[in-house]
Amino acid sequence: MSQYQTLETSIMAEIAASADEASIEAVRVSVLGKKGSVSDLLKSLGKMTAEERQDAGPAINGLKTRVTDAIAARKAELYMAAITERLARESVDVSLPVRSSPVERGRIHPISQIVDEITAIFADMGFSIAEGPDIETDYYNFTALNFPDGHPAREMHDTFFLQPDENGERKVLRTHTSPVQIRTMEGQKPPIRIVIPGKTYRQDSDATHSPMFHQVEGLVIDKTATVGHLRWVLEEFCKAFFEVDNVVMRFRPSFFPFTEPSFEVDIQCDRTSGPIVKFGEGTDWMEILGCGMVHPNVLRAGGLDPDEYQGFAWGMGLDRIAMLKYGMPDLRDFFNADVRWLSHYGFRPLDMPTLFGGLST
Ligand code: DAH
Repeated sequence: MSQYQTLETSIMAEIAASADEASIEAVRVSVLGKKGSVSDLLKSLGKMTAEERQDAGPAINGLKTRVTDAIAARKAELYMAAITERLARESVDVSLPVRSSPVERGRIHPISQIVDEITAIFADMGFSIAEGPDIETDYYNFTALNFPDGHPAREMHDTFFLQPDENGERKVLRTHTSPVQIRTMEGQKPPIRIVIPGKTYRQDSDATHSPMFHQVEGLVIDKTATVGHLRWVLEEFCKAFFEVDNVVMRFRPSFFPFTEPSFEVDIQCDRTSGPIVKFGEGTDWMEILGCGMVHPNVLRAGGLDPDEYQGFAWGMGLDRIAMLKYGMPDLRDFFNADVRWLSHYGFRPLDMPTLFGGLST
């Protein structure tokens, strides 16, 4: 067998053995590429004598034509095979159920849900929403709220302090939503009826405390607001929020620097049936908020004359209330961003809470 035939046989075997488009392309390069075996033979023609070329020329050119055709044919074959395989693999099973749309699958976080519920209740009573910055000055977070210098709540123990700025002022992550009371009084004349939902921060972390948590604050200022009004507003709120016809509330004397008198409010509940507490019945009490009549110093800090205006305020932690209302056992899960938790405890985005349509149904 001549050397050309030997080469042709081995090339044809390689072509036949190539199993996909990449390997047939590799064979093509090794045969017909710049340094390919057949290309080398073609180049060698130039160095031959005229006689040698007479036999070698047709032999080499014939070889080239045959392997070129064979490569092209195998390439086309493998191309068709690849397409056929892909069509089979990517075929659509029309009998599968339709996948639900993102609107169907998305969920509202329980905290956002609770804020929407509270907003709906107070909006119905004529309140507006106010917001303020998470990074506060010591003045708004403490001083204007009548915290005396050296009050324990100012200490590192509770408060996250930021590095001092160029003037030596240390900003804080607000420890409560109460600073927005002052910001609102500064910007708006009474009558004031606002609720203030937002994030708050304290150095505290366990199954029921998170260093970032949520509060809703309320503030009413006019010329005649009384403790009686405060009590009515909170009672109406609790009935609507806990979705019961009756709540029994207990006002206990307490202390906050920014209210005088100050109260802590407990509501009657039943804790005997697991993580979901029932309200409006039972023999237990649960503390749910702090409140009181706005202190004259706070009115003054807000630019109002305490001889002309008076008002009441309250502040409530949202995270624990959400845990109790919806039976979520560990607060830390709220902020783990686990979609499985969210799809279990979350709420449908298009079911907006309203008083007439139902808050949490
Ligand atoms: N700011 C208080 C806290 O974080 C809660 C509070 C109590 C707010 C009484 C009020 C209030 O507006 O009147 O513990």
